[in-house]
Amino acid sequence: MELMDRKTDDTGNEAIRAGMPALVGGYAVVTGASSGLGRCFALELARRGIDTILLSLPGSGVENVARMASGLGTRSIAFGTDMRDRDGLLDLCREINRKYAVSVLVNNVGAGGTQRLGDSSYEYLENIIDLNVTSVTMMTRALLPNISGGNGGYILNVSSMAALSPIGFKTIYPASKRFVYDFTRGLREELRGTGVSVSTILPGPMKTNRDVTARIERQGLFGKIGLLSPETVARIGIDGMFSGKDVIIPGWMNRMYKLLADIVPSCVRLPLVSRVVSRELDEDNRI
Ligand SMILES: NC(=O)c1ccc[n+]([C@@H]2O[C@H](COP(=O)([O-])OP(=O)(O)OC[C@H]3O[C@@H](n4cnc5c(N)ncnc54)[C@H](OP(=O)(O)O)[C@@H]3O)[C@@H](O)[C@H]2O)c1
Repeated sequence: MELMDRKTDDTGNEAIRAGMPALVGGYAVVTGASSGLGRCFALELARRGIDTILLSLPGSGVENVARMASGLGTRSIAFGTDMRDRDGLLDLCREINRKYAVSVLVNNVGAGGTQRLGDSSYEYLENIIDLNVTSVTMMTRALLPNISGGNGGYILNVSSMAALSPIGFKTIYPASKRFVYDFTRGLREELRGTGVSVSTILPGPMKTNRDVTARIERQGLFGKIGLLSPETVARIGIDGMFSGKDVIIPGWMNRMYKLLADIVPSCVRLPLVSRVVSRELDEDNRI
């Protein structure tokens, strides 16, 4: 893998953190890059002198993020695409593979929510599965030959602290993030020795958009546990990815929560976490 320790990037911009390996050549693809954590990943990579290919919904303003990344002295290309459209997504990956060398993939796009399963629309359920499970798998499969065909590279899959336990009223979200966690760890083992490092990050709560912020605030004190800004999470994620970590848990409170989740039996943990999460529902639906 062609890596070197750089203190400054090619354009002479702001110093890259001392001792941080910087990739030479190759684009970083970031999904869901128009806002929230994805936008922070895009700008964090650009600050480190890494060129980016940014994917998000058409009309999401992802071009503005690409302009900001270019303003940091890197090349940045934006593509508007609905990642639930599997054929469209695979066509786009083929185009990327034809035109660009890719050395980093950040599978960030994802959707969540808190609803009783019986009250959920099929569209709501399908959106979570399409983005959290199918798009992560398809993107990784489609870009892997490009990533492993160069000088090696990195894949960072965004899971969640929610992956650590099943949760009532969220049901499908923690299950989908558990998929991301297990998929990453299996693929990491499969790619051992190939020069491609695969990591997963488990963020705790981040106030990335109005809906998520309202849900976090309804959890009260519990919502504050492990709360970090998306900028901080993106920085920790990119550091962890480049240092080849398998599982990245940002923030000491989240690491403590992981320790507790490992030792507290499911018969205690599951009702407790589900009760707290039910606070995100309307008053009539809480337990
Ligand atoms: N926020 C949290 O508390 C939290 C905690 C743990 C894990 N995570 C995970 O972190 C990741 C990012 O979360 P976030 O809170 O930053 O999410 P977000 O604010 O909802 O942003 C998601 C991004 O994906 C884009 N997007 C949505 N649907 C898309 C589609 N069909 N095709 C292409 N792009 C699409 C959005 O575009 P628009 O700008 O047009 O909406 C946006 O850029 C997700 O995987 C999430 O599960 C979040």
